[in-house]
Amino acid sequence: MMIVVFSGAGLSAESGIPTFRGDGGLWEGYKIEDVATPLGWMQNQKLVLDFYAQGFEKMQKCQPNAAHFAIAELANHFDVVCITQNIDTLLEKAGVKDVWHIHGRIDYQKCEWHFDIPPMYSEWQCNYKSPINKPVEWGDLCPKCGKHLRPDVVWFGEAVDMRVDDLYKIQNQVDVFIVVGTSAQVYPAANLLKFFQDVPTKYFIDPDPNYELLDGFTVLEGKATKYLPALIESLKEELA
Ligand code: OAD
Ligand code: ZN
Repeated sequence: MMIVVFSGAGLSAESGIPTFRGDGGLWEGYKIEDVATPLGWMQNQKLVLDFYAQGFEKMQKCQPNAAHFAIAELANHFDVVCITQNIDTLLEKAGVKDVWHIHGRIDYQKCEWHFDIPPMYSEWQCNYKSPINKPVEWGDLCPKCGKHLRPDVVWFGEAVDMRVDDLYKIQNQVDVFIVVGTSAQVYPAANLLKFFQDVPTKYFIDPDPNYELLDGFTVLEGKATKYLPALIESLKEELA
């Protein structure tokens, strides 16, 4: 029995982390192009680091909600692949062991010349990446090559490592596909809806679902904490 859970910012909304596209979204007075693009980084590293330092402090303080814990519970019982667009670590805090963070994670740093999908010439990259317990500061340099360190998050215009080889390995084995808390507007992540379109049982949990994308899904229109724990309890009974 294999289950894929694909999550977005809505999963962590009830833990106090605002979503990207809702009111009072995550950018809070910052312009996306200033703080979440390679060009923004080239123009003002300090501004980018200040923005992520705030995010780091905030996300450290937040606690998982009932939906994160429900996913952890599911992973205890079944073969669960947990793919998230979120850079927070609330799924880990709830006890999920192996989370695919396709947009990176706030508690890691990497060299500004680290690329998850390597460029054509290997001399144009440095593979330094490490966990952190404090945010990257301006002036923190890569111990391997001396270039600047940066947060391990994916910015607009950067390649996303979708772990395509791993995805193809599981594509035809997935029994249940659960999507929670995403506007499914950001690619390539949103391609997962198409990639797993033939999975026999599919659920989509979101208070504001985009029905155009949801062919074949059972849509649970509401908050993650309202529907996910109940859904997971019923799956446990059904599939046990
Ligand atoms: P969005 O902000 O685009 O969408 C959040 C979704 O969560 C919306 O569909 C909301 O209706 C839903 N939502 C809000 N509250 C919820 C709750 N309590 N329970 C369940 N759902 C709720 O966030 P994402 O789809 O995650 O990328 O955005 C995708 C990517 O866009 C992010 O990973 C980020 C951003 O650019 C990068 O930073 C690379
Ligand atoms: Zn380096």
